[in-house]
Formats: sequence, C-alpha cells, structure tokens
Amino acid sequence: MDLLPVAPIETLRQRRSAKWRFHPHDVLPLPVAEMDFDLAPPIQEALRAAVERSDTGYPAPVPTLADALVGFAGERWGWEIDPAAVTAVADVGVGVVELLRVLVRPADPVVICPPVYPPFFGWIPEAGGRVHEVPLRDGRLDLAGLERAFATHPAAFLLCNPHNPVGRVHSRDELTEIVRLATAYGVPVISDEIHAPLVPPGATFTPILTIPGAAAIAVSLVSTSKAWNLAGLKCATLVTASPAMAAVTDRLPPDTPWRVGHFGVLASVAAYTEGVGWLDRLLATLDDRRALLGRLLAERLPEVSWTPPEATFLAWLDCSAIGAGAAPRDLFFEKGRVALEPGPRFGAAGDGHVRLNFGTSAEILEAAVDRMAAARGSL
Ligand SMILES: Cc1ncc(COP(=O)(O)O)c(C=O)c1O
Repeated sequence: MDLLPVAPIETLRQRRSAKWRFHPHDVLPLPVAEMDFDLAPPIQEALRAAVERSDTGYPAPVPTLADALVGFAGERWGWEIDPAAVTAVADVGVGVVELLRVLVRPADPVVICPPVYPPFFGWIPEAGGRVHEVPLRDGRLDLAGLERAFATHPAAFLLCNPHNPVGRVHSRDELTEIVRLATAYGVPVISDEIHAPLVPPGATFTPILTIPGAAAIAVSLVSTSKAWNLAGLKCATLVTASPAMAAVTDRLPPDTPWRVGHFGVLASVAAYTEGVGWLDRLLATLDDRRALLGRLLAERLPEVSWTPPEATFLAWLDCSAIGAGAAPRDLFFEKGRVALEPGPRFGAAGDGHVRLNFGTSAEILEAAVDRMAAARGSL
C-alpha cells in the first residue's frame, strides 16, 4: 500500500494550528496529538465545496452525521448503532464534561486509570467531581483495583479505549469484566473511544457497547478528530444503546448539538463515508513510522524503553534510565530543541516519561530522535 506523503517542514510551519504555533521555529514539535499528513482528499473536497457554496451557517448533524457513523461503525467494527441514539457534541471533551455534569454530585469521585490523557484530570473537577486514580498495572487495566474503586460507588468510570498514552487496545475479556463490575456496583461507564479508528491490523478494537450488558451502563464517545486530523473543526458524537443511558444524554443542555462545528459535521460525514481507503493508508503509514521509531531508538537512544503502541500515533517513552529526572521533556526541549509531552502531565506514573507523536514524516521522526540523542549526550 502507498504510504501517505508529508509536506516539507517549511510548508508544515505555515500551519496555524497549536502544534505548529506553540514553539519557536527552531523547535521540532512532536507533542500535541495532531498529525502532519495532508487531509484526506474527500475531506478536502467536502470543505472546498462548502466554501464555494458559502455554506458556513449552523450545523445540521441530523440525519447525515449519525447515518455516516452508523455505516462506518457497522462495517469497521460490526457495531450496530441506532441512529436515533447518536448525539452530536462539539468535541469529546465537551461530551465527557456534559455527561459528568449530569452524573456527578459535588465532590463525587470519578475513576480514571493513569497514566492517561491529561485533560481527564481537569474535566472531572470542571464538572464538580473528584479524581479517583486506579493506575494501570504493567500498561493494562488493573481489574482488581477497579473493583475496589467501584465498591466505593463512584459517580462514573472514565475509560480510555484505546488508551492514550500507552496505546493499549483493551481486550474484549477486559471490557467484559469492566461491564460486569460496573453493572454489579452500579457505576456508569463513559468510554472515550476517540482513538478507535486508529487501530491497525494486529489489534482488535472492541466498542464498549458491543459487550453484552454494556448498553444499560455505558456511553461511548467517538469522533473523526484524531484519525482524520479534524480536531479544529469541532465535531464528535455520543452514542447510547439503552433507555437508561439515553435518559442521561436527554439531560444534556438542549443546545448541545447547536454548538457543533458545521465544517466538522461535513468533514466527519466525508471521513466516515469516503475516507476509509485513506484511513487504511494512514494505518499502514503509522505502522511504518512505529517500526522506524523502534529502530531509531534502539540505535541512537538505547536507554529509552517503550512498548510499541497497539493503536494511535503516540509513543510512551520511558526515559528514566537517562537520568534526566521526572521531566526528561525539559532536557529534550532545552538541549535538543524538540518538543514532546511531559510524562508527569499524565499522572504520577508518568515521571521519567515523554509522549512522542509519530504522526509525521520519516525525516522529521529521524531528526527528532537525533536531537533527543544529542540532548542525552550533553548530560
Ligand atoms: C483520549 C482523548 N480524548 C479526547 C481527546 C480530545 O478530543 P476533543 O478534541 O474531541 O475534545 C484526545 C485528544 O488527543 C484524546 O487523546
């Protein structure tokens, strides 16, 4: 399969998005989860056509967005979604916070499994709750720890599947056990499945709502924003599969779907209906970059250890053997001029780690590892 090209770095530097604007020009940016590939052609076409029509009004996500997601999820994952059970939300963060506002009473605990996507630590207090951590064990869900936490009757469990930053795709057996425990202890599960389309052959993504019994207790959030690089267009979807969980989403602010980006809806429909071939090329390209990163680290930074992720374009690198303290990110930034996400942002288990975004060209990846190796050599 043809791999996806990446524009030269001078062209990438013209982008106005966070990844390319947050750092001085001499820094190679590999932190925030945006990718450097060109947009999928059907998405470019959909957006260009909208501009040509001066079609920049309010979003109309019903029925097109729901129908497009239903088609994609059925084909890709064998997940049957009722289009009437799909709610458009501006982004996954908005979806999670609004759900938590419904589920959480002041200072209720909400369970998360660090190291995990840093905004989880902020979304919970934003909705009035309190973070209850059940850290991953050896990169996997700690089912016994989760049972102990669920026994205290938290307001919700915020699951990340596939898991950012470790890239683990939770297995059907693990999810079955999560559903059993959540049902037994009456804990609603919010499953953040934003990275789901980014699972290449070799791992199998299981939507939580395909687990028997999950419908009564779980809500899923899916989006095109990571896999097709559409984060700036503000469109995601919340999916339920039972009257009980629909009753939760019915309590969201009635204007929630009006707050979605119109271009996000148009681009997401194009992604789900015409962007699947491009997605498969992306997965092949990311597989190539993941293997390249492994070779580069083994050659040039052998002290760094990692488990290649089963999904996503994010690599969770354990740099503790380098001896740069809790935040090796500072060494790589200051001495190597390469920007990575600092591990401690993902929770205490992130000390000594960085998260590297390999959704880029082979040249940029190689230059980044070279710069990291030079920074390490300066110690
Ligand atoms: C696990 C996870 N959830 C949510 C988000 C943010 O999604 P959104 O921009 O739709 O809020 C990200 C972004 O990288 C993520 O990795």
